[in-house]
Amino acid sequence: MTRRILVTAATGTVGGAAMRLLAGDAKSGEFELIGAARSARSADRLRAEGFAPVTFDYDRPETLRPALEGVDSVFLITGYSVDMLIHSKRLLDAAKAAGVRHIVHLGALAPDDTPHPHFAWHQLIEHTIESMGFSFTHLRPNFFIDTVWAGFKHRPDRLVHFVGDRKISWISSEDIAAVGTAALRDPDRHSGKTYPLAVEALSLTEIATLLSEVTHRPVEYRPREPTELLPILLKQGMDPVYATSLAGGVAAIEAGNMPLADAVYDTVKSVTGRMPLGWRAFAEARKGELTAS
Ligand SMILES: NC(=O)c1ccc[n+]([C@@H]2O[C@H](COP(=O)([O-])OP(=O)(O)OC[C@H]3O[C@@H](n4cnc5c(N)ncnc54)[C@H](OP(=O)(O)O)[C@@H]3O)[C@@H](O)[C@H]2O)c1
Repeated sequence: MTRRILVTAATGTVGGAAMRLLAGDAKSGEFELIGAARSARSADRLRAEGFAPVTFDYDRPETLRPALEGVDSVFLITGYSVDMLIHSKRLLDAAKAAGVRHIVHLGALAPDDTPHPHFAWHQLIEHTIESMGFSFTHLRPNFFIDTVWAGFKHRPDRLVHFVGDRKISWISSEDIAAVGTAALRDPDRHSGKTYPLAVEALSLTEIATLLSEVTHRPVEYRPREPTELLPILLKQGMDPVYATSLAGGVAAIEAGNMPLADAVYDTVKSVTGRMPLGWRAFAEARKGELTAS
């Protein structure tokens, strides 16, 4: 019987990259690939890219069990909200009932004894996955290049951040997805593994210089005070509980109190065999997206 893989948050940054990486082998019948869609609009987006969507809304628990029918491996991805806890619990309960074998979880990079809530929540989810008896692969990425790029591409003359001039470590959604999909394709090989994911450490000043070279125009880093972040996140509509934790974490980095903030690893290369994308290669590949100034 053909194996079935479900990617949650399939319309998101990492889930979308995972869908694209799995598409070729799914087409050739190696496995069946399903993308979770919480709305008709998301389902249409997936269909437009040639994917098979399934109705799946963490806030409508009754949709989860049917979506997991016959599924062997799940890429578990949640959003930027404290609801990640209940969303993950609901998914894991439904997955257990449906007989899912392997869970690949998108978490975040932090020491095991981190005091910061959003990192700790991800670690609690990892522990739950393990204690429920799933075969598991835990992904622990540090800062996404994509998140900063999403702002930069609309204002390509500036970078705004809140970590002062600390070096922090970076990874692209593309590389996270490459490691995640390796585990989805070959669960036995990656079962029981925790993969920290960060490929280079750069300060925002260094990134601004690099972007200036790639785009052939001036790029200025405009540091903002860490205390300015929370009101901005709230204005953008982020869940206040998650936003408070995120802002606290960023303030700790700026103060030099975040272990692993600039840690780098060779996991992308060792797991996938591919050379990871650093900031320069990412910007070279995506500079066509920049708004003309
Ligand atoms: N950004 C960073 O630097 C960073 C670093 C480390 C870890 N992380 C972790 O990365 C994760 C977020 O990944 P991402 O950036 O790829 O996410 P994202 O781009 O924000 O995408 C969120 C996805 O979740 C879906 N979704 C939202 N609410 C849902 C619901 N109720 N039911 C089902 N699906 C729902 C969205 O669907 P729609 O398209 O329908 O809205 C979308 O596909 C978080 O757990 C975060 O802690 C981020």
